[in-house]
Amino acid sequence: MGEIVIERLTKHFGQTRVIPGISLSIAQGEFCVFVGPSGCGKSTLLRLIAGLETATSGTIRIDGRDVTALEPYDRSLSMVFQSYALYPHMTVRENIAFALRTAKRPEAEIREKVAEAARMLQLDPYLDRRPAALSGGQRQRVAIGRAVVRHPAAFLFDEPLSNLDAALRSDMRLEIARLHRDLGATMVYVTHDQIEAMTLADRIVVLNGGRIMQAGSPRELYDRPANTFVAQFIGSPRMNLIPQAALGLGPAGAAQVGLRPEDLRIAPAGPLTGRVDALEYHGADLSVFVDCGAGGRVNLRAPGMLDLAPGATVALAFDQDRAHFFDADGNRL
Ligand SMILES: Nc1ncnc2c1ncn2[C@@H]1O[C@H](COP(=O)(O)OP(=O)(O)O)[C@@H](O)[C@H]1O
Ligand SMILES: [Mg+2]
Repeated sequence: MGEIVIERLTKHFGQTRVIPGISLSIAQGEFCVFVGPSGCGKSTLLRLIAGLETATSGTIRIDGRDVTALEPYDRSLSMVFQSYALYPHMTVRENIAFALRTAKRPEAEIREKVAEAARMLQLDPYLDRRPAALSGGQRQRVAIGRAVVRHPAAFLFDEPLSNLDAALRSDMRLEIARLHRDLGATMVYVTHDQIEAMTLADRIVVLNGGRIMQAGSPRELYDRPANTFVAQFIGSPRMNLIPQAALGLGPAGAAQVGLRPEDLRIAPAGPLTGRVDALEYHGADLSVFVDCGAGGRVNLRAPGMLDLAPGATVALAFDQDRAHFFDADGNRL
């Protein structure tokens, strides 16, 4: 259960073509993350799958059934939003039970499913509280609990962790990963945060302007980005793109050479030299920004204990097999 097949899906709002055309298959049980900059159409695509937006053309099938024209409730999907959308006057228990109550499920079944969700999400101590008496992370767990009790074919998440602070976000990331393991359900997860994408996804779909720039495992995207957009979107700090002419390196047609900050090192000699113009100390490591003239401003990751001052002249070296080459259109060679 939970295979989602999207074919030539488009969405226009008036004259604005938000999704010019997407085809994508999401396997049963897969954790698929849509990532991309703000406004690239992630939420629109998710809302189309959910049935909260009507497709302009194309089809969406869930487990072989064409759901393109069906109402959200008839698609056996559950959606979790960034704004938890809890009912403030209801207790946690009532919030979690709400969809089952509306569907007039038997009382015993409601009790059992609420208990199961509460256990899975560690909400037992809070079942009689109202949302106002919960922390942000607890509220988001209640929102997820409301989705879990419906036993949907797939879960759809739209930036569920964006309202949480950094520490809670990383706890919740682990919890969502565990939930995926426990339930084995298909999860489609939208985020603009590439760390969430990298840590949660079986497969990442990178979107830009309503188009798929690349879809693949986190490792595939990191090791072999298909274009400069993906190269600079995945990986933090982002990949340096150095004009080929400044390095004189690479296959015919290479216009830019991509080097990740972690693949560069300060060496006695190297193909790039420049002046250190800024340093950012992170503790374990040090971000060094080097003005390499025609090579541009290059960022490298050095060990935190490195003793370096702005203004120093340094040479940068790298292993050639760590270099990525892109043509003038930004496509990988
Ligand atoms: N109801 C709407 N009417 C008109 N334009 C919309 C509507 N919803 C979204 N858009 C536009 O579609 C684009 C994609 O939006 P969205 O899917 O929310 O992006 P994301 O979730 O990636 O930030 C944006 O330019 C947005 O302004
Ligand atoms: Mg959005």
